[in-house]
Amino acid sequence: MSVLEIKKYPDDVLKKKALPVEKIDKSLQKLIDDMIETMYDAPGIGLAAPQVGVSLRLIVVDVNLDDEDSEPVVLINPEITDTDGLIESEEGCLSVPECQITVKRAEKVTVKGLDRDGREVSIEADGLFARALQHEIDHLNGVLILDRISQLKRDLYRRKMVKMRSKAEA
Ligand code: NI
Repeated sequence: MSVLEIKKYPDDVLKKKALPVEKIDKSLQKLIDDMIETMYDAPGIGLAAPQVGVSLRLIVVDVNLDDEDSEPVVLINPEITDTDGLIESEEGCLSVPECQITVKRAEKVTVKGLDRDGREVSIEADGLFARALQHEIDHLNGVLILDRISQLKRDLYRRKMVKMRSKAEA
């Protein structure tokens, strides 16, 4: 397993709609393992394949980072099939550093997809887990938390990032 580079805004891969996974083979299993390791290394509670530069519909989530026995949830071609309620909460993103945004999302979701062995699964989630699933599925559609704020705030963030980068390169 290896830790992969996490693509940062405004990398083009983050804006693309990812393609469905068609073959669950060895190279996909390796990608899944690498994504899990990258998520724990960051550390983050979720990661979508486009964030490591692979435009495929694949996500990993683990909202119990502090629990050593917790198993990461792997979902291939995930789809939200049902939602309930609406709730606002602050969110960050590994691809959008130095940014916390209040995002309104469904309180509960049902997500269908395949597990890493290709078995169909349906997951009912609420709380942080529901939020993380929606955030990661947004990534598969080329949507970042920045797309959920006003143009003005987005421009401010872009300028802040340009400044930070030019400082880092100086
Ligand atoms: Ni993210």
